[in-house]
Amino acid sequence: MDELLTDGGLIRKLWVGEADKYREHLLRLDQESRRRRFGGTVSDDCIRNHTEHAAGLDAMLHGFFVDGVLRGVAELRFLGPRYLTREAEAAFSVESPWQSHGVGSALLERTLLTARNRGVKFLHMACLADNKRMQQLARKFDAELSFDFGNVVCELETPRPTPMSLMREMVNDGQSLATAMLDAQSHTLKAG
Ligand SMILES: CC(C)(COP(=O)(O)OP(=O)(O)OC[C@H]1O[C@@H](n2cnc3c(N)ncnc32)[C@H](O)[C@@H]1OP(=O)(O)O)[C@@H](O)C(=O)NCCC(=O)NCCS
Repeated sequence: MDELLTDGGLIRKLWVGEADKYREHLLRLDQESRRRRFGGTVSDDCIRNHTEHAAGLDAMLHGFFVDGVLRGVAELRFLGPRYLTREAEAAFSVESPWQSHGVGSALLERTLLTARNRGVKFLHMACLADNKRMQQLARKFDAELSFDFGNVVCELETPRPTPMSLMREMVNDGQSLATAMLDAQSHTLKAG
């Protein structure tokens, strides 16, 4: 499971100005993955509209990159003002060739750390009732599952932040920033 992540793939936060990468990633999802991600059929326009607003103040995105291309995203959305709320929701998308290789698990782990460090107590995730993989993923992290009109709601309780959890996120962010800068530099060189 970790091989793919260490073998050319990496996970980092998406920064302001990377909404276009998120849009292209969601548009690349195959039909079934797109349906599962949004809990129903959505148009390309709907995706464009979603990504325009996704990187706002009430959300944080983690991305899975392979050779500089975004192949998976975890979207964490705070349910209320970011530094006051104790609840958030998360949604995940991994392009099909990269599914079942541990990417979703790694994205959820990073998302949980970020939520925890923002004082979030409960993380909600919703998926279709036939989405066994998402349910398995939530169960791995001890989420409680409840069934609700064709959907499954997964709820995770997050522990309180500690100096160590804050430090872990800071280290991750330092690496993320360095990698994002290297990516941007190599794109500029290629374009030139
Ligand atoms: C759901 C999704 C995010 C999971 O990500 P992933 O990278 O495929 O998941 P992982 O490889 O980390 O697997 C998570 C767990 O799911 C289970 N799993 C993996 N492949 C599975 C499969 N084909 N069928 C059923 N369960 C499976 C396993 O228990 C696995 O954990 P383990 O390998 O440690 O035992 C991803 O498949 C996806 O993007 N699907 C389309 C969009 C979607 O469904 N989003 C969720 C709604 S928001």
